[in-house]
Amino acid sequence: MTEKDFVPNPYTNLPSGGKVTWKAPSNIALVKYWGKKANQIPANPSISFTLDACATTTSVSYTKKEDISQLSFDLFFEGKPKEDFKPKILTFFERIEAYLPFLKAYHFKIETSNSFPHSSGIASSASGMAALALCLVEIERTINRDITDTFFKKKASFLARLGSGSACRSIEGDLIQWGEYAGISESSNLYGINYPFNVNAIFKNFHDSILLVHKGQKQVSSTVGHDLMHDHPYAERRFTQAHENLDKLKKVFESGNLDDFIKIVESEALTLHAMMMTSMPYFVLMKPDTLEIINKIWAFRETTKVPICFTLDAGANVHVLYPESVKEKAIQFIQDELVAHCENGHYICDRIGSGARKLIAHEG
Ligand code: PMV
Repeated sequence: MTEKDFVPNPYTNLPSGGKVTWKAPSNIALVKYWGKKANQIPANPSISFTLDACATTTSVSYTKKEDISQLSFDLFFEGKPKEDFKPKILTFFERIEAYLPFLKAYHFKIETSNSFPHSSGIASSASGMAALALCLVEIERTINRDITDTFFKKKASFLARLGSGSACRSIEGDLIQWGEYAGISESSNLYGINYPFNVNAIFKNFHDSILLVHKGQKQVSSTVGHDLMHDHPYAERRFTQAHENLDKLKKVFESGNLDDFIKIVESEALTLHAMMMTSMPYFVLMKPDTLEIINKIWAFRETTKVPICFTLDAGANVHVLYPESVKEKAIQFIQDELVAHCENGHYICDRIGSGARKLIAHEG
């Protein structure tokens, strides 16, 4: 598919208004997306586990308006008007207008809230942009009833990507691949797809305990970080490595070999941060406690042989990944040894999830 396939035919009839609500989860990349081209095209393919507990719920109310020359919306975050989120949403609307030509015909009221604390340092852009994109395609579906479920999800992923790249992996579950990759013929730079190959049952109920090491604002945004991959001395090798790691993961997903899974996933996390440290200007997002946690995970794994590992996103927090079979041991270890490194002892127990869902009016 190309971008043009997401441009609809002219609408024949616009309803006067309505309200839709979607809840979309966050996701955690195993092979990381870091570096992009124009129009949010990734420099390398990535793959992620869709999460379950960490999610954004967004309602969009829409009312037809007279003046169709401008975009118009109000934004509420956790019940209160949120002016500082508006520029990002406006840019998003401008980027997607060609694919949703009804946008200027309505005034929108966007009400959004996260399941995780706002100041947790967890990026809400993936779940937030996914939930908003789903609401907007849902509105389009009321205008054009011919939209199939498959196209609906593709278009939501396509639009979410234009809001925040990794958001395109937050529409479906449980293992989502995004970005052109020779090993998967249907892979696309434009949207995420369900991983099409066999996945061992061990990966079907994996856990992700997110250790909140640092809840403050990041010193360098991921937009700036992606940009620094242009003219980066190791960029090309890194992009190739992402393809190689996807090749390796194919065997791992099939066999359930956790030793190999751990090697790929931890290497990806550290490579992501190595790219930050070798950019110009360079920067470090890990904190001393991030490293303490990593070292404790390595020591625990070495002595107990419990297959528990870590990954990182673009921040100091640590995602601790482990299979269902070692859940008790992992949680005990987190409580005994790792919680001390979390800001105010906070962590979030999440697990692999099945994707976004539409909410009906009375659901929370
Ligand atoms: O979606 P963005 O632009 O915030 O980039 C996210 C990048 C990482 O979280 C670091 C990696 C990934 O693939 O999710």
